[in-house]
Amino acid sequence: MATLSLNYVLLIAIPILVVLTLVITFLLVVLLKRKSKNSSSSSSSSNSTSSTSFRKSIIDKSQISNAIDIGYSPADVRSCIYAGGKLIYSAALKERKRGGQVFTYKELELATDGFSPENVIGNGGFGVVFRGTLRDGTEAAIKVLHREGKQGEREFRMEVDLLSRLHSCYLVALLGYCADQQHRLLVFEFLPNGSLQGHLHPAAPCKQHRRRAPLDWCTRLRIALDCARGLEFLHERMNPAVIHRDFKCSNILLDHNFSAKVSDFGMAKTASDKVNGQVMTRVLGTSGYVAPEYASTGRLTTKSDVYSYGVVLLELLTGRVPVDSTRPPGEHALVSWALPRLTNREKVMEMVDPTLQGQYSKKDLIQVAAIAAVCVQSEAEYRPLITDVVQSLIPLVKSQDSMSSRYHHQIVVPVS
Ligand SMILES: Nc1ncnc2c1ncn2[C@@H]1O[C@H](COP(=O)(O)OP(=O)(O)OP(=O)(O)O)[C@@H](O)[C@H]1O
Ligand SMILES: [Mg+2]
Repeated sequence: MATLSLNYVLLIAIPILVVLTLVITFLLVVLLKRKSKNSSSSSSSSNSTSSTSFRKSIIDKSQISNAIDIGYSPADVRSCIYAGGKLIYSAALKERKRGGQVFTYKELELATDGFSPENVIGNGGFGVVFRGTLRDGTEAAIKVLHREGKQGEREFRMEVDLLSRLHSCYLVALLGYCADQQHRLLVFEFLPNGSLQGHLHPAAPCKQHRRRAPLDWCTRLRIALDCARGLEFLHERMNPAVIHRDFKCSNILLDHNFSAKVSDFGMAKTASDKVNGQVMTRVLGTSGYVAPEYASTGRLTTKSDVYSYGVVLLELLTGRVPVDSTRPPGEHALVSWALPRLTNREKVMEMVDPTLQGQYSKKDLIQVAAIAAVCVQSEAEYRPLITDVVQSLIPLVKSQDSMSSRYHHQIVVPVS
């Protein structure tokens, strides 16, 4: 009886097992086929458009390394090549470039009324800056770079490479560029209130120029905080850090609301090739702003920018220029004149820009003076990180804002 029932069970179980094995084998074959199809299609697509996998690897990298808004990696920047006198970006790079519009020379000629002298808004060491209106109505500052020497070419490439991947409201945005034949032009967002230099140290007023009211204390503090944040973005949020190398009043631009943005990255240096936290480089910069250790040895660190920042803070505080040979002996260099006064509670009051009288509290003044003093000290390692400067300025700006019931607006007064 038992043998009979065993035979009966086997009679039912064996076909079921056979059917199950067949189904599993079938499923496995289908799965394997699908997998091999996927991998072959992905490899063929990577062969035809290697940019897809290239882009993916960059996205993964940037997601892992940091969360900042970088459009493309240094590898992308290297893939930016010259051909036939034109700056060519790889297809993958072009696809991802944001804010990096390519303009023809003709377009920019139209935007500036044929580069009319009427539209000149500045003339720096690297070229002439024109105000222009782009085809879509956007106002722009268009910098036509001098073509002599390698420096102009370097400035052009550095600005395009860096600014296409740096996006911060504390940095002047690059709208695009033109590399038509021998021409090199940079197209920036237009900042209607011009440079901090133009407000703090205006050239002698003439009929065509508008007389500007001196910047008030509250606006100066906010400008100091905005540009510290600009440097903080470069030093702390970029990986590797970016050293501006030419931080100064004429490279701080002001929007309609007097918010400040840092400009001019043509001399910037990334700290990727640093040894012991320093980059060895040829000394470049503007007299009066260059940190002493950088000037004497070429050793460049983020602390070199902190020194230049300290000089700008002194200019905001005193209204003086960094180097002024028309002043009496001992007062030519702003830093050496200011340093002993900055730490003296009585003397600090005497060094303040006379136009600021009655606008600041002594407590706030002493704090700003102390920040300036640590930034311009000769020992680079004792200078603060720019993040520390930002943190020290935040409460000062906050207390100013809460004291004034309305926002301070600088008024541009036309000459009558
Ligand atoms: N985006 C902009 N918006 C408004 N004005 C600008 C803009 N860019 C530049 N300017 C004006 O053009 C001037 C010249 O700028 P540029 O950067 O060419 O030279 P600089 O900063 O004076 O000197 P350097 O060549 O040593 O940097 C600035 O001081 C500013 O007044
Ligand atoms: Mg400049």
